[in-house]
Amino acid sequence: MAKAALVVGGSGYLGQHLTRALIGGGWRVSVTYRSNEDAARAARAAGAAAVRCDVATDEGASAAAAEAERVGAAVVINCAALSQPRKCQEDPQAARAANSPARLLRALAAVEGATPVFVHISTDQVYKGDRAVWAVGDATEPVNAYGETKLAAEDDVREAAPPGGAVVLRSSIIYGPEAPLASVGRPLFVQFVEGALRKGEPTSFFDDEWRCPVYVGDFARAIEAIAGARGVARGGFEVYNFGGPERLSRVDMARAVARACALSEAAIVEASAATVDRGVASPPDISMDSRPTEEALGFSMARFEDALRQHVFVGGGA
Ligand SMILES: NC(=O)c1ccc[n+]([C@@H]2O[C@H](COP(=O)([O-])OP(=O)(O)OC[C@H]3O[C@@H](n4cnc5c(N)ncnc54)[C@H](OP(=O)(O)O)[C@@H]3O)[C@@H](O)[C@H]2O)c1
Repeated sequence: MAKAALVVGGSGYLGQHLTRALIGGGWRVSVTYRSNEDAARAARAAGAAAVRCDVATDEGASAAAAEAERVGAAVVINCAALSQPRKCQEDPQAARAANSPARLLRALAAVEGATPVFVHISTDQVYKGDRAVWAVGDATEPVNAYGETKLAAEDDVREAAPPGGAVVLRSSIIYGPEAPLASVGRPLFVQFVEGALRKGEPTSFFDDEWRCPVYVGDFARAIEAIAGARGVARGGFEVYNFGGPERLSRVDMARAVARACALSEAAIVEASAATVDRGVASPPDISMDSRPTEEALGFSMARFEDALRQHVFVGGGA
């Protein structure tokens, strides 16, 4: 029988891509969603089961765990979060509730006979960002509520890792094609850049904020490796940085989009992050060393411009 996966937060950007990729890879997939009914409908049409639940409540966490039991999930991937730093800053209580997997882990522990590997998606924003290239063992010191709640979530996982083991992936900014099932109701960075360049209107990009953007398709490869024969974290607890191989500023990313789409770079205006009030502190340099992750999982992360050309702006975009 095909392996089964439960994608918690399967209606979000990453969750939709994972759902699509895992179904394509022969998995039986169940997703949970909280509010995005369009994504739930599209997931069902694509062959997944979809269960509505709010993991910030005991009832919702139990419903998610019951679904994991029903399908005999080999892996539970937790993509549920209040994922926008500004919203977390405005409502830290809501951020703590949505970003903590504690209830979900408790509910999974109560499920008889279920031993899925728990994969939790964390963030590069657990690092302070006052220098380049962070390793997993480096100090964590978030500069905003988003990073604080995501770091607390890692502790939840560490303290209550299920018998099947747990893996935390500290993700950098995720890019790829549009959400494949339904809109996620917010602009996506590389699509925003393409739109701005096509209009030719001068648009500012930061030249002093660095990330290691990660191609969304690499998450499905990671899940296959974690759930597969390599047995990463089987019965244990592991934390990995999950970023692409390059340290890029927003200007670097915008120029790569221009090249991939054969558009002029003339509209790209270099600016300091200090010139914009985003309503939330943003760590300047949270580039990461993900080479140990590549070694453990057995594959190389996609390079930014290569993935743009091969998967996002195929044929040079629209
Ligand atoms: N996107 C990035 O660049 C990025 C970078 C680093 C780390 N991450 C992390 O990666 C993960 C996925 O990100 P994403 O971009 O896919 O986020 P997203 O598009 O905002 O999706 C968030 C998902 O969480 C669900 N959700 C929110 N609150 C919930 C709750 N209380 N109970 C149950 N489900 C809830 C949403 O459901 P509804 O939409 O149905 O309400 C949605 O399915 C998050 O943990 C995020 O912190 C993302």
